[in-house]
Order: sequence, then structure tokens, then C-alpha cells
Amino acid sequence: MKEITILGSTGSIGTQTLEVISELKNWKVKALTAYQQTELLFKQIKKFNPEFVVVVEEEAAVELKNRLAAEPTIKTEILSGKQNLETAAAEKVDILLNAIVGFAGLEPSVAAAKAGNDIALANKESLVSGGPVLTELVKENKVKLLPVDSEHNAIFQLLKGHQSELEEIILTASGGPFFSYSREELSQVSVEDALNHPNWEMGSKITIDSASLMNKGLEVIEAHWLFDCNYEDIKVLVHPQSIVHSMIRLIDGTILAEMGPADMKIPIQYCLTYPRRSETAGNMLELDQIAALEFFQADTDKFPNLKYAYTAGKAGGTFPAVLNAANEIAVYSFLRGEIPFLAMSRVVASVLDQHHNITAPDLEDILNSDQEARRLAVEVIKEWF
Ligand SMILES: NC(=O)c1ccc[n+]([C@@H]2O[C@H](COP(=O)([O-])OP(=O)(O)OC[C@H]3O[C@@H](n4cnc5c(N)ncnc54)[C@H](OP(=O)(O)O)[C@@H]3O)[C@@H](O)[C@H]2O)c1
Repeated sequence: MKEITILGSTGSIGTQTLEVISELKNWKVKALTAYQQTELLFKQIKKFNPEFVVVVEEEAAVELKNRLAAEPTIKTEILSGKQNLETAAAEKVDILLNAIVGFAGLEPSVAAAKAGNDIALANKESLVSGGPVLTELVKENKVKLLPVDSEHNAIFQLLKGHQSELEEIILTASGGPFFSYSREELSQVSVEDALNHPNWEMGSKITIDSASLMNKGLEVIEAHWLFDCNYEDIKVLVHPQSIVHSMIRLIDGTILAEMGPADMKIPIQYCLTYPRRSETAGNMLELDQIAALEFFQADTDKFPNLKYAYTAGKAGGTFPAVLNAANEIAVYSFLRGEIPFLAMSRVVASVLDQHHNITAPDLEDILNSDQEARRLAVEVIKEWF
């Protein structure tokens, strides 16, 4: 038996990870965490019998404890508060899967790396904001950092044996629901339109980021840290079919591509079985059922977030954390209907413009920059809307 802790077990990646574990059979769950969704967490506790769970929100944790009091056979301990996410991350397991959404995932990733836990990382914000700190800790503590994100999981697989021959990384992007929209049409889109992703079922934050191309921008920065690659050597191509999950170009001009169904359980499973593979219960990709594989340049005039991510990434230091923080505020404001779709990238640009970079940040610098960027983003939104 192998042991896993899943941070963010009630989300899209978290629930799919639990499905993978059920299919693989030889895994035991050490701990699960959520922010506040106790209904689903209760079902997960009954099914997976973890040693403990963390519910960040105190009231939700009390409610869950009360519910479990009526189930004397369940011995799961219930902890609450943000600090206990780090406790969960640092408990020794075979792998820690971080599927928390947003910057909240960074400190648990840091705690896991410090404790020497191998990490399957879905929480891209850990590397986007905390890349300089997290990658050092990973090296220092000889931690295996396995990318769950389908694009990075693809690159990770493709690079085997080719690291020294790499010319460039080509990340594919679905283009989201608005790929063919004009600026005029983009100015009219609703929250519902933006949540309607053509190929992937994901949490609301990443779905909005996919529609605005910020997700691809965050992934460019994530790729920089994961594969120690210059930004000039990370390209993005829009590939609406989401069949090719990403590619690498080698120095002799050969392009290697990783293809498969748009099913996150495949990269999740690969992280858990790495370096081996297991059979999948999911659908196989039938290439003769696909009419075409198309690739287009991303239009960064229409979707400037991608441009801003390259700029922030190249500037380095605390700029990527600021990009991420401003974007988180903008996305949740959009989701609440407070700002229009196109305003999100304007908020990000304005906050980036106001930031004074710290070039070699420690964790505290990153946490402070994140806080300050959030404050500025809220201020900008209040002023404009
Ligand atoms: N979904 C995908 O297909 C996909 C693909 C590639 C990468 N990713 C990345 O994986 C991560 C998770 O994405 P997702 O789509 O699974 O998100 P999601 O469905 O929104 O789930 C987020 C999880 O994090 C928990 N959470 C939310 N805020 C938190 C906080 N402040 N502190 C601690 N926990 C918190 C949630 O708990 P509650 O349920 O209690 O709110 C939930 O368990 C993101 O970084 C995303 O970019 C996702």
C-alpha cells in the first residue's frame, strides 16, 4: 500500500484523484483537505477513511465534527484553520497531491517540500508565485516534483532522454470558448458564457483563466520553473481540439507531441504510478475519429494576459506573484458580476504597473507582494466600477 494526502480533495482535480485511487486500489489516504465543502468531504471520509482532514473554515469544521459524532465507527480527526494545511502537507506520505486553487496552495507546497514529501502539483500558483523559493527547497530536500497540469505532464513525459537536445517547449492552449470572438464580442460576454469551456470540466477559477488566456500565461511561468527553460524557448500555440497536450522541438527540428483524451485522470494517474504506467478505465483516443488537428498563433492583442505573463515572468522576482494576485482578485470580481470580462486584464496591467520588483525574493517578500497586489487590485476595481 502507498499513502497519499490530497489537498483540495473536494475540487475538480481532488475528486478525480480520489477516483484514480479507487481504480488503482493499492493506495491509502492519509489526509484530505477542503476549504468549506463539508457535504462532499463527509462522503469522502466515509469512503476513504483518512487519518485526519483539514477544513480551513472554522464553522464548517465544527459542522463536520458534529455530523461525524453520529458515526461512531469513523475515527477520522477533524482539524481546522489555514495553518493545519501545512501540518497536513508535512505529514510523511509517498506523495502529496496539491489540488488547492490559487495562491493559498503555496505555503502547503513549501511545507511539503521542507518535509521532503514528493509532490504531485496541480496548484500551478505555487510555482507561478513562489517559483524561486519552491524550486530551491525541492532541490535542497531532493523532492520529486511531478506536474499534474496536462501540458506540463506532457512535456515531462516528452523530455525523458531529450533534455540535452531540447530546442523549445510548445505549450498548447484550447483557446477557450472565445477564441474566435472579436474584441467587441468579448466586451459583451457573460459569466455563464465564460464558464462554458468547450473541452475541459474544471473549477471556476481555472475555467475563467482559460477563457482569458491567463491560464496559459500562468502555465508559461510554471514551465519556466519546472523545466528550467528560458522564456524565449517557451512557445504557445492554440490547438482547439485539445488532443495534443503539448510538444517539444528538438535541436534537429524533430517535434515530439503527447496526445490523448481530454481527461485529467490520465496525468493524475501518471503522477501516482510514475515512473510506471497502469491501465486506464477511461476512454481511449481514436485518431480516425478526429477530423483535424489545428494549430494557431495566440492573439495577444485580443487576449493581453498572455503578453503580461511573459513580461512578468521575464522580469522575475515578485512580478509573477503580483500578476497572479491581481488576476485572482479580478477573476473572483468577474465571477461575482462586479466587472466585465475585458476589465480583468486591465486590472492586472494596472497592478503590474504599480509594482516595485524585489528581484531575489524570499517567502516573506512573496507573501507581502501578494497581499499588496490584492490590495491594489481591489482599489483599482473600486475606482473604476
Ligand atoms: N481542474 C482541472 O482540470 C485542472 C487542470 C490543470 C490544473 N489545475 C489546477 O489545479 C488546481 C485546482 O483546480 P480545480 O479546478 O480542481 O479547483 P476547484 O475545483 O475550484 O477546487 C479547489 C479546491 O481547493 C479548495 N480551496 C479553495 N480555496 C482554498 C483555500 N483558500 N485554502 C485551502 N483550500 C482551498 C477547495 O475547497 P472547497 O471545495 O471547500 O471550496 C477545493 O477542494 C488549480 O491550481 C488549477 O489551476 C486544474
